[in-house]
Amino acid sequence: MKKAFLPALLIGTAMMSATVAYADGSLFDRMGGAPVVTKVVDQLLDLSMNDPRTKRSFQKINLKRLREKLNEQICALSNGPCQYSGDSMKDVHGGLDITDAEFNGLVEHLTIALNANGVGLREKNELLKLLAPMKRDVVTK
Ligand code: HEM
Repeated sequence: MKKAFLPALLIGTAMMSATVAYADGSLFDRMGGAPVVTKVVDQLLDLSMNDPRTKRSFQKINLKRLREKLNEQICALSNGPCQYSGDSMKDVHGGLDITDAEFNGLVEHLTIALNANGVGLREKNELLKLLAPMKRDVVTK
């Protein structure tokens, strides 16, 4: 019994520090990285394009570009290995007359998509907190 104690202690300590390292990794990694973010963005767009409360703005747009830029933006914001190469939030949304209700609808869709893809509560709140200040550049009506 005694002989096994030291190796067990060492393994236990290693496992604990691995858990801590994982918990303190970038938000991007903690959300599950590119595979999860891609699914979240797909689902967010699918919900927003089909919900009568939000679909208005998504009718005649380049969906491929939007999907690409959103992935990039979420990756960059969450300290993942990407750089956002899209336009500013003010330039993109300025002419869309987006209302408070439309903004809230999109946040609701994002929350559903994050939940459906297993993103944890802490990570979800961190991401929403990073996006919240953009509201002033998105909502113009
Ligand atoms: C914090 C909230 C939001 C973020 C972070 C965000 C992010 C983005 C990004 C990265 C792009 C692509 C930029 C580019 O093409 O260079 C984009 C475009 C767009 N966003 Fe948002 N967005 C937000 C809120 C909204 C809301 C609430 C709506 C409507 C309900 C909306 C509708 C659109 C549309 C329609 C486009 C495409 C515009 C076009 O290609 O002409 N966005 N957004």
